[in-house]
Amino acid sequence: MLRNLREALKGQLTDEELKQLGRAFDIVGNIAVVKLPDGLLPKKHLIGEALMHVHRHVRTVLRQTSAVRGEFRTRELEVIAGEPETETTYHESGCSFKVDLAKVYFSPRLAHERLRIAQLVKPGEIVTNLFAGVGSYSIVIAKHGQASRVYSIDKNPAAFDYMCTNIRINKVGDRVMAILGDAREVVETHLREKTDRVLMPLPELAREFFDVALLALKPEGGMVHFYDFGKEPELFKPSLEFTRAAAAAKGRKVELLESRAIRSYATRVYHIVLDLKVS
Ligand SMILES: C[S@@+](CC[C@H](N)C(=O)[O-])C[C@H]1O[C@@H](n2cnc3c(N)ncnc32)[C@H](O)[C@@H]1O
Repeated sequence: MLRNLREALKGQLTDEELKQLGRAFDIVGNIAVVKLPDGLLPKKHLIGEALMHVHRHVRTVLRQTSAVRGEFRTRELEVIAGEPETETTYHESGCSFKVDLAKVYFSPRLAHERLRIAQLVKPGEIVTNLFAGVGSYSIVIAKHGQASRVYSIDKNPAAFDYMCTNIRINKVGDRVMAILGDAREVVETHLREKTDRVLMPLPELAREFFDVALLALKPEGGMVHFYDFGKEPELFKPSLEFTRAAAAAKGRKVELLESRAIRSYATRVYHIVLDLKVS
């Protein structure tokens, strides 16, 4: 993708500027999202137009102007080419997700991870997704796994609205239940000891909410997918030690079934996941 863009911009950007194009951009439905270094800002419209030329189905190019931030994990965006639109529909693993990239978190880079989790779900399982966003993990699980129910919680009202829409579009309303609220409050009030499998796809809050995941599990235990940040060279060890100690404090035992580095986050830091069997 990036090579084609560089090709299209040859002659319009200097060699030095072409090198600065850096990491590949994301395409979500018919919207492309780019991050540009300050040195390329004077050329942002040219770059946006070139992207639309290379990817004919892209109708809008957005530049990310802030980090993903805040409790709803959203980002600031500006239109640099095409139509002034931030809402789109994205297709993944036979599912469709309507999203507004300015109002909710969404990453197409987690597609493989979503499908991996869905394939681990056993028939009849009850799943709780503590940080569900627009419902992407929950809906892929409902389509590809055989869960009997997926409780799908998010605190962002915009994400909740899109989740409800996406549940309808994907016809999984009989299995996925969207819940608007704080994951701790929802679990403490309604979902204690009801779940076979808990997803925690928000590394920033994983440690703070691990006790909530334990509380959601049935008394006989179950699985927790613990997303965290891991730093080389230890990578998974601190997260595993944290979960072991936190589980022991609640009289539970943790067994590591799988650990994966999902994607690079910063220099030598990775977004990681531990698949934990809790008994
Ligand atoms: C990184 S996003 C993950 C979204 C989704 N799982 C995905 O991969 O597309 C984290 C989500 O957690 C939600 N969130 C943050 N704090 C929360 C809380 N205390 N309770 C419930 N949801 C929360 C945010 O609104 C955001 O949509």
